[in-house]
Amino acid sequence: MSLENKQISSENTSNFKPLIVAFCCNWCSYAGADLAGTSRLNYPANVKIIKVPCSCRVNPNFVLRAFQRGADGVVIAGCHPGDCHYTSGNYYTRRRFTLMKNLLEYVGLEPERFKVDWISAGEGNKFAAVMNEALEQVHKLGPNRKLRDARWKR
Ligand code: FES
Repeated sequence: MSLENKQISSENTSNFKPLIVAFCCNWCSYAGADLAGTSRLNYPANVKIIKVPCSCRVNPNFVLRAFQRGADGVVIAGCHPGDCHYTSGNYYTRRRFTLMKNLLEYVGLEPERFKVDWISAGEGNKFAAVMNEALEQVHKLGPNRKLRDARWKR
């Protein structure tokens, strides 16, 4: 058995620690994450945050790549509709990623592993809640084995 296969097979649900990749827009959600941190709110340490200028900067390929490289769940967080720093970026995000759910289903991945939410700079509580919820959801689904590139090591 190769090292990768051993690694994947050892991820049974008992010791499964889901990896969540969260793309957060610089102006609201990232500040919300910061507030959650400074307020000492609990959110899982295995949420890896990637700061983007606006939620619409996230190309659907980024999401697929994250899944290929070992993410078990992906969250995109942006400003609330109407509050985007670039006026309408999050409207593009909303439209684009509604279709993304269908694409994920089409390629055989559970669409519940992917989520888009709106979190403002003052919503540290919401940031923690969204991340905990995403983690719980992914925990129920188990490890992402369908899109993960077996050559990729965590
Ligand atoms: Fe936050 Fe556009 S700047 S979603």
